[in-house]
Amino acid sequence: MSDAALPIPASTEADILSALGARSIVLVGMMGVGKSTIGRRMAARLKLPFVDADTEIEAAAGMTIPEIFERHGEAHFRDGEARVIARLLEGGPLVLATGGGAFMREETRTRIAAKAISIWLRADHDVIMRRVRRRADRPLLQTADPEGTVTRLLTEREPIYGKADLTIASRDVPHDKIVEETIETLRAHLCGEQAAPPPPADVASAGR
Ligand code: S3P
Repeated sequence: MSDAALPIPASTEADILSALGARSIVLVGMMGVGKSTIGRRMAARLKLPFVDADTEIEAAAGMTIPEIFERHGEAHFRDGEARVIARLLEGGPLVLATGGGAFMREETRTRIAAKAISIWLRADHDVIMRRVRRRADRPLLQTADPEGTVTRLLTEREPIYGKADLTIASRDVPHDKIVEETIETLRAHLCGEQAAPPPPADVASAGR
Protein backbone atom coordinates (compact mmCIF):
# COMPACT_ATOMS: atom_id res chain seq x y z
CA MET A 1 0.00 0.00 0.00
CA SER A 2 1.43 3.41 -0.89
CA ASP A 3 1.70 6.11 1.78
CA ALA A 4 -1.03 8.08 0.01
CA ALA A 5 -3.54 5.28 0.73
CA LEU A 6 -2.95 5.29 4.50
CA PRO A 7 -5.89 6.68 6.45
CA ILE A 8 -5.22 10.07 7.98
CA PRO A 9 -5.66 9.76 11.76
CA ALA A 10 -8.33 12.12 13.07
CA SER A 11 -6.86 14.73 15.37
CA THR A 12 -7.23 14.13 19.08
CA GLU A 13 -8.24 17.75 19.58
CA ALA A 14 -10.97 17.55 16.93
CA ASP A 15 -12.29 14.29 18.45
CA ILE A 16 -12.51 15.92 21.87
CA LEU A 17 -14.18 19.09 20.62
CA SER A 18 -16.80 17.24 18.65
CA ALA A 19 -17.61 14.83 21.52
CA LEU A 20 -17.68 17.71 24.01
CA GLY A 21 -20.31 19.75 22.16
CA ALA A 22 -21.37 22.65 24.40
CA ARG A 23 -19.96 21.06 27.55
CA SER A 24 -16.97 22.53 29.35
CA ILE A 25 -13.93 20.94 30.95
CA VAL A 26 -13.72 21.67 34.68
CA LEU A 27 -10.56 21.10 36.69
CA VAL A 28 -11.01 20.38 40.39
CA GLY A 29 -8.64 19.52 43.21
CA MET A 30 -6.64 20.97 46.08
CA MET A 31 -4.75 24.23 46.14
CA GLY A 32 -1.40 23.92 44.45
CA VAL A 33 -2.14 20.95 42.17
CA GLY A 34 -1.77 23.05 39.00
CA LYS A 35 -5.39 23.55 37.92
CA SER A 36 -4.72 26.97 36.38
CA THR A 37 -1.43 26.07 34.71
CA ILE A 38 -2.71 22.79 33.26
CA GLY A 39 -6.09 24.32 32.39
CA ARG A 40 -4.53 27.21 30.50
CA ARG A 41 -2.37 24.85 28.46
CA MET A 42 -5.25 22.48 27.74
CA ALA A 43 -7.36 25.40 26.56
CA ALA A 44 -4.58 26.52 24.21
CA ARG A 45 -4.32 22.98 22.79
CA LEU A 46 -8.08 22.71 22.29
CA LYS A 47 -8.48 26.34 21.17
CA LEU A 48 -11.09 26.91 23.86
CA PRO A 49 -11.33 29.90 26.20
CA PHE A 50 -9.68 29.44 29.61
CA VAL A 51 -11.28 30.88 32.73
CA ASP A 52 -9.95 30.82 36.28
CA ALA A 53 -12.93 30.89 38.68
CA ASP A 54 -10.91 32.62 41.43
CA THR A 55 -9.99 35.46 39.05
CA GLU A 56 -13.64 35.82 38.02
CA ILE A 57 -14.76 35.92 41.65
CA GLU A 58 -12.23 38.65 42.38
CA ALA A 59 -13.42 40.65 39.36
CA ALA A 60 -17.08 40.24 40.34
CA ALA A 61 -16.40 41.27 43.95
CA GLY A 62 -13.94 44.04 43.09
CA MET A 63 -11.54 42.72 45.73
CA THR A 64 -9.03 39.94 46.24
CA ILE A 65 -9.91 36.57 47.74
CA PRO A 66 -8.05 37.33 51.01
CA GLU A 67 -10.06 40.57 51.23
CA ILE A 68 -13.37 38.73 50.65
CA PHE A 69 -12.50 36.23 53.42
CA GLU A 70 -11.41 39.01 55.76
CA ARG A 71 -14.32 41.38 55.22
CA HIS A 72 -17.19 38.97 54.59
CA GLY A 73 -16.07 35.52 55.73
CA GLU A 74 -15.77 32.16 54.02
CA ALA A 75 -19.52 31.47 53.73
CA HIS A 76 -19.98 34.66 51.69
CA PHE A 77 -17.03 33.69 49.48
CA ARG A 78 -18.52 30.22 48.90
CA ASP A 79 -21.89 31.65 47.84
CA GLY A 80 -20.20 33.99 45.36
CA GLU A 81 -18.02 31.14 44.11
CA ALA A 82 -21.07 28.93 43.44
CA ARG A 83 -22.83 31.77 41.58
CA VAL A 84 -19.81 32.60 39.44
CA ILE A 85 -19.24 28.95 38.49
CA ALA A 86 -22.93 28.51 37.61
CA ARG A 87 -22.74 31.56 35.34
CA LEU A 88 -19.52 30.44 33.66
CA LEU A 89 -20.91 26.96 32.98
CA GLU A 90 -23.77 28.52 31.02
CA GLY A 91 -21.22 29.94 28.56
CA GLY A 92 -19.39 26.77 27.52
CA PRO A 93 -17.54 25.18 26.02
CA LEU A 94 -14.54 26.45 27.96
CA VAL A 95 -11.83 25.16 30.24
CA LEU A 96 -12.52 26.21 33.83
CA ALA A 97 -10.09 25.98 36.74
CA THR A 98 -12.02 26.02 40.03
CA GLY A 99 -10.77 26.97 43.49
CA GLY A 100 -9.95 24.03 45.76
CA GLY A 101 -13.17 24.21 47.78
CA ALA A 102 -15.68 24.74 44.96
CA PHE A 103 -16.39 21.06 44.26
CA MET A 104 -17.32 20.49 47.92
CA ARG A 105 -20.71 22.12 47.34
CA GLU A 106 -23.24 19.60 46.11
CA GLU A 107 -25.16 22.13 44.04
CA THR A 108 -21.94 23.03 42.18
CA ARG A 109 -21.13 19.35 41.57
CA THR A 110 -24.62 18.83 40.13
CA ARG A 111 -24.19 21.79 37.79
CA ILE A 112 -20.76 20.62 36.71
CA ALA A 113 -22.11 17.11 36.02
CA ALA A 114 -24.85 18.60 33.83
CA LYS A 115 -22.67 21.05 31.92
CA ALA A 116 -19.14 19.69 31.89
CA ILE A 117 -16.64 16.88 32.19
CA SER A 118 -14.83 17.15 35.52
CA ILE A 119 -11.18 16.26 36.01
CA TRP A 120 -9.58 15.87 39.43
CA LEU A 121 -5.92 16.82 39.45
CA ARG A 122 -4.73 14.72 42.35
CA ALA A 123 -1.43 15.39 44.11
CA ASP A 124 -0.03 14.01 47.32
CA HIS A 125 0.51 15.98 50.50
CA ASP A 126 4.23 16.68 49.94
CA VAL A 127 3.77 17.95 46.40
CA ILE A 128 0.95 20.22 47.58
CA MET A 129 3.01 21.56 50.50
CA ARG A 130 5.99 22.34 48.27
CA ARG A 131 3.78 24.25 45.86
CA VAL A 132 1.56 26.16 48.30
CA ARG A 133 4.64 27.44 50.13
CA ARG A 134 5.39 29.56 47.06
CA ARG A 135 2.30 31.75 47.62
CA ALA A 136 1.23 33.25 50.92
CA ASP A 137 -2.21 34.52 49.84
CA ARG A 138 -4.41 31.50 50.54
CA PRO A 139 -6.64 32.41 53.51
CA LEU A 140 -7.32 28.80 54.53
CA LEU A 141 -3.59 28.22 55.05
CA GLN A 142 -3.03 31.22 57.32
CA THR A 143 -2.96 28.91 60.33
CA ALA A 144 -0.33 28.02 62.90
CA ASP A 145 -0.01 24.60 61.27
CA PRO A 146 -0.48 24.76 57.47
CA GLU A 147 0.76 21.16 57.07
CA GLY A 148 -1.89 19.91 59.47
CA THR A 149 -4.50 22.03 57.69
CA VAL A 150 -3.59 20.49 54.32
CA THR A 151 -3.76 17.00 55.87
CA ARG A 152 -7.22 17.72 57.29
CA LEU A 153 -8.50 19.25 54.05
CA LEU A 154 -7.19 16.30 52.03
CA THR A 155 -8.95 13.84 54.34
CA GLU A 156 -12.22 15.76 54.03
CA ARG A 157 -12.01 16.51 50.35
CA GLU A 158 -10.42 13.56 48.58
CA PRO A 159 -13.57 11.38 48.74
CA ILE A 160 -15.49 14.24 47.13
CA TYR A 161 -12.88 15.06 44.49
CA GLY A 162 -13.05 11.35 43.68
CA LYS A 163 -16.57 11.91 42.32
CA ALA A 164 -15.08 13.75 39.32
CA ASP A 165 -15.41 12.01 35.96
CA LEU A 166 -11.65 11.58 35.56
CA THR A 167 -8.58 11.60 37.78
CA ILE A 168 -5.09 12.62 36.71
CA ALA A 169 -2.00 12.30 38.91
CA SER A 170 -0.40 15.73 39.23
CA ARG A 171 3.24 15.35 40.20
CA ASP A 172 6.63 16.93 39.69
CA VAL A 173 7.06 16.26 35.98
CA PRO A 174 6.98 18.87 33.19
CA HIS A 175 3.53 20.46 32.86
CA ASP A 176 3.27 19.40 29.24
CA LYS A 177 3.44 15.75 30.26
CA ILE A 178 0.42 16.21 32.53
CA VAL A 179 -1.37 18.12 29.77
CA GLU A 180 -0.65 15.30 27.33
CA GLU A 181 -1.98 12.65 29.74
CA THR A 182 -5.05 14.71 30.51
CA ILE A 183 -5.88 15.27 26.84
CA GLU A 184 -5.43 11.57 26.04
CA THR A 185 -7.49 10.44 29.05
CA LEU A 186 -10.20 12.91 28.11
CA ARG A 187 -10.28 11.70 24.51
CA ALA A 188 -10.54 8.09 25.63
CA HIS A 189 -13.36 8.94 28.06
CA LEU A 190 -15.33 10.98 25.55
CA CYS A 191 -14.83 8.56 22.69
CA GLY A 192 -15.51 5.52 24.87
CA GLU A 193 -12.10 3.94 24.46
CA GLN A 194 -9.20 2.96 26.66
CA ALA A 195 -6.50 5.62 26.91
CA ALA A 196 -3.78 4.60 24.46
CA PRO A 197 -0.96 2.81 26.31
CA PRO A 198 2.55 4.11 25.64
CA PRO A 199 4.00 2.40 22.54
CA PRO A 200 6.25 -0.62 23.19
CA ALA A 201 9.95 0.22 23.15
CA ASP A 202 10.56 -1.42 19.76
CA VAL A 203 7.78 0.62 18.08
CA ALA A 204 8.82 3.80 19.88
CA SER A 205 12.37 3.44 18.59
CA ALA A 206 11.43 2.22 15.09
CA GLY A 207 12.60 4.49 12.28
CA ARG A 208 15.27 6.17 14.38
C1 S3P B 1 -9.50 27.52 48.31
C2 S3P B 1 -8.65 27.50 47.24
C3 S3P B 1 -8.24 28.70 46.52
C4 S3P B 1 -9.30 29.82 46.69
C5 S3P B 1 -9.61 30.03 48.12
C6 S3P B 1 -10.13 28.77 48.82
C7 S3P B 1 -9.85 26.23 48.98
O1 S3P B 1 -8.09 28.42 45.14
O2 S3P B 1 -10.47 29.51 45.99
O3 S3P B 1 -8.44 30.48 48.74
O4 S3P B 1 -10.87 26.18 49.68
O5 S3P B 1 -9.13 25.22 48.77
P1 S3P B 1 -6.88 27.51 44.53
O6 S3P B 1 -7.29 26.08 44.66
O7 S3P B 1 -6.84 27.95 43.10
O8 S3P B 1 -5.66 27.87 45.30
